[in-house]
Amino acid sequence: MLQVPIRGSANGTGKGTKAVILVGGPSRGTRFRPLSLDVPKPLFDVAGHPIIWHCLTAIAKVPSIQEVCMIGYYDEVVFKDFIKEAASEFPNLPIKYLREYQALGTAGGLYHFRDAILKGRPERIFVLNSDVCCSFPLNEMAKLFDDKDAEAVILGTRVAEDAATNFGCIVSDSHSRRVLHYVEKPESHISNLINCGVYLFSAEAIFPSIKTAIKRRTERPRLLSYPSSENLESSFMADADEDEERKEVIRLEQDILSDMADSKQFFVYETKDFWRQIKTAGSAVPANALYLQKAMQTGSTELAKPSLNLIPPVFIHPSAHVDPTAKLGPNVSVGPRAHIGPGARVKESIVLEDAEIRHDACVLYSIVGWNSRVGAWARVEGTPTPVTSHTTSIVKNGVKVQSITILGKECAVGDEVRVQNCVCLPFKELKRDVANEVIM
Ligand code: GDD
Repeated sequence: MLQVPIRGSANGTGKGTKAVILVGGPSRGTRFRPLSLDVPKPLFDVAGHPIIWHCLTAIAKVPSIQEVCMIGYYDEVVFKDFIKEAASEFPNLPIKYLREYQALGTAGGLYHFRDAILKGRPERIFVLNSDVCCSFPLNEMAKLFDDKDAEAVILGTRVAEDAATNFGCIVSDSHSRRVLHYVEKPESHISNLINCGVYLFSAEAIFPSIKTAIKRRTERPRLLSYPSSENLESSFMADADEDEERKEVIRLEQDILSDMADSKQFFVYETKDFWRQIKTAGSAVPANALYLQKAMQTGSTELAKPSLNLIPPVFIHPSAHVDPTAKLGPNVSVGPRAHIGPGARVKESIVLEDAEIRHDACVLYSIVGWNSRVGAWARVEGTPTPVTSHTTSIVKNGVKVQSITILGKECAVGDEVRVQNCVCLPFKELKRDVANEVIM
């Protein structure tokens, strides 16, 4: 159980701080299929806990935190159990879910719920994209915020030059750390320092900035299609209703951050620690590895004890059964009631609730879905990608395929069958060898 050290308030110790986690909604996270068909992406387990649990763990370590608001357009019921469990795990951290009536964009939801967020008069507000995996150095960002008397601090990281244009790009003064220029997913290279999707804003500055952007939009309606990585891959055709909805969409990245760069009080905290996006289902595997490695570095007691057959880090849920002759790790998570038989080998993979891996099967760089079964002597495998790579697709025989093999819910792989670089939709039975396919 994690204790929140001191609860801040406007007149207490430290600056009263709130945190917002942007969880999106059911129309997003489509690239997380087939896993998001059965669980909303923010609740998918990596390293033994839902993706947003990792955000909460970091937020709970901010001494002056008053409350966490999860903002999204999923139905309220989706997060009910999670919030209940989180309340017992983080007893001093009030958590609430605020539901947008439609997708309002990364700044639209913040503005819509400004009264709820400003209740208790926080002086600063953290905003976290829920689909990133990192060590969330929130206290370091807060220190920079205080030292610079900032209006905003953004978390940045360096990526390879050819990957940078897939993200928001930051041009900064390396000495003062001031953000000089911000462009969301630019068409050509401007910087390899990118936006990690984690911000700290002064409560006084952020809402007026959004208000100005809304006013500008009303006076000068603009381009309706935004370069989100989601809609870059989807159709550019939008029907009239969608156009109407998008007029209400206000995005932090395009509508606010570029303007903030002119304010002179916008700074970047560059993390040297790990950072990855969790977009495709396959990206849960590197995220799982990074969080497990972090848990190992920090001496987490949740991890399985290393042994001849357990190469750390490995997470095994207490209700799972792993035969002592099975060899696991590194970077493996085994979910509740999963069963791993004698002589099995599992590496760089996530085995979800109630899944079964029968004797002498081999699972590498893969996700084995809820209640799925991998037969005896079967081989389910993906392909390793470089740690620095920010994509989970690879080219095989001239065709772009997923580097991670994914078995959706209740799939069955026959005895001795080999499955390589495949995405398998729920309820499929694989009786013959398959490679580089999406099995529908
Ligand atoms: N509540 C709510 N409402 N959340 C939303 C909405 C919305 O309408 N739209 C997106 N989100 C959430 C998503 O669930 C995700 O957690 C986050 O906001 C960002 O999602 P995208 O809009 O898809 O942006 P992106 O991932 O392509 O790019 C953003 O993140 C990158 C880092 O991962 C940008 O901030 C980039 O600049 C950044 O590099």
